[in-house]
Amino acid sequence: MKILITGGAGFIGSHTVVELIEAGHTPIIIDNFSNSEKWIIDRIEKITGQKPTVYEGDCADKKFIADVFQKEKNIDGVIHFAALKAVGESMEKPLEYYRNNLDSTMTILEEITRHKIGNFVFSSSATVYGDPKENPIPEIAPRQPATNPYGNTKSIIEDIIRDLASADKNFSALSLRYFNPIGAHSSGLIGELPKGTPNNLVPYLTQTAAGKRKELTIFGDDYPTPDGTGVRDFIHVVDLARAHIAALDYLKKQPKPFYDIFNIGTGKGTSVKEIIETFEKINRVKVPYKIGPRRPGDIAACWADPSKINKIIGWRAEKTIADALKDAWKWEKNIS
Ligand code: WQD
Repeated sequence: MKILITGGAGFIGSHTVVELIEAGHTPIIIDNFSNSEKWIIDRIEKITGQKPTVYEGDCADKKFIADVFQKEKNIDGVIHFAALKAVGESMEKPLEYYRNNLDSTMTILEEITRHKIGNFVFSSSATVYGDPKENPIPEIAPRQPATNPYGNTKSIIEDIIRDLASADKNFSALSLRYFNPIGAHSSGLIGELPKGTPNNLVPYLTQTAAGKRKELTIFGDDYPTPDGTGVRDFIHVVDLARAHIAALDYLKKQPKPFYDIFNIGTGKGTSVKEIIETFEKINRVKVPYKIGPRRPGDIAACWADPSKINKIIGWRAEKTIADALKDAWKWEKNIS
């Protein structure tokens, strides 16, 4: 299949492009490189032997997007990753987040409906569950009012997609709710490239281990969890990428119109301390850390019930936390 990937040079996007090529598909990338590097495209070619077509531009630019859809005939599906995604930044710049994330999605959806392209996969997030009442979290768990504009854009876009699927008989879509993507491609050629100081745990951890950061701060060890530190469903980014291939194959077979939601997680909760201990053990490197105060907006625990995608689509996470932390460290050493 010929698949358009917005944000295809980003962390999850680039890993998904690699898996698409390796599954025999033809990916077409749209990226404005605001949160990714152009040399990632060369790395994709180095890994797969194929250089994907790339259109540099912004998904909210209606003319640019219309031109891409005009040029690229016979697109079989679209995976939409492109978005601003820093929770903290979204609190400081809500309008920028609503404008960018909503406009870009609606621009893409307008072209999809215009060209009657049936399959749309949306990069949603477990953030829509807020502070879950239960773990593991099934898709039927209620979405909670978002605790930040970034998370709210994900909820709003899910509703836009749901409503479009009710209105347009040619449209079919999936919202994939990611938990915590970590790790990197085993080649060490692509991985996470946080801009400035990493917000997320694993890139901060690997930069500390590489000596780029003085020490890691554990944001609170007084949560109601086994060791007091936050618990999350950390999923290897390559497993996450492969879920998109499986999801597209499934979606293509569904009678239109169609819409559904799937959690993409391992189904296992791992604490911050366990991540640090596993990283130190698997990579034989010490990570200096201290305990600090809780980070505002953080929840104690969140992990997926992935049984729906396991059963219906037949995908399940295969890589371990140790695999992800080994791959993350190899990547960090390559870019240091
Ligand atoms: C994980 C745990 C922190 C950094 C976010 C977004 C979510 C998704 C994934 C986009 C928590 C602790 C972290 C540090 C720490 N992104 N931590 N020290 O907050 O679960 O999810 O990223 O879709 O939408 O909300 O991920 O990696 O920031 O935090 O102790 O320096 O690590 O308190 O318990 P989070 P995270």
